[in-house]
Amino acid sequence: MGALSSAVFASRNPDKARELEQLLPGWRVEPLIAGTFPPETGTSYYENAHGKAHYGRSLEKRPLWVIGEDSGIEVAALDWGPGVFSARFGGDDPVGRMLTALEGIEGEGRRARYISELVAISPHGEELRGSGTLLGRIGHQPRGSEGFGYDPVFLPEGKERTVAELGNAWKRGNSHRARAARALLEALGS
Ligand code: IMP
Repeated sequence: MGALSSAVFASRNPDKARELEQLLPGWRVEPLIAGTFPPETGTSYYENAHGKAHYGRSLEKRPLWVIGEDSGIEVAALDWGPGVFSARFGGDDPVGRMLTALEGIEGEGRRARYISELVAISPHGEELRGSGTLLGRIGHQPRGSEGFGYDPVFLPEGKERTVAELGNAWKRGNSHRARAARALLEALGS
């Protein structure tokens, strides 16, 4: 595969491409240039991640890997939802929406997990995957300023600080996406 491999990341979010590059040592990751992206209508993270990778593969003519990702949060009291609907559930105010949904709920009901699924498709159409989970619980008030989405109310297992307090450097080593990236690297044999 060579010392430095290249991939195109099929996401409309350039920050995520930069983040993924940091999570895949030895890889150069550039965002896919595309006017539109397919809607995320799958019923699983894998389906959505595969849909994005497949779409990128159809546009990318260079012999590079194409990677798609999907992620979400699952909470015990919400029947382990919103899951694949996390982006739509949270809207402009993911933290407020989550705290309101869990009002009056204590203990086990606040158990939560972040999930990330990565799908990579080679220039020849070979497909590899990597999945990652971060276990934790939902706190009672937002704390911290780093990360995004639900991070100010997500406390990883064994921690008394939120992901937003633990920060981006901690996320690079420990997040669901970091774990999925490590699993993908293992599948890639690099
Ligand atoms: P998507 O993978 O871009 O579809 O986003 C899924 C949604 O899950 C995001 O909009 C966030 O609400 C949530 N999410 C996924 N990963 C994270 C994370 O690392 N921190 C906080 N929220 C996340």
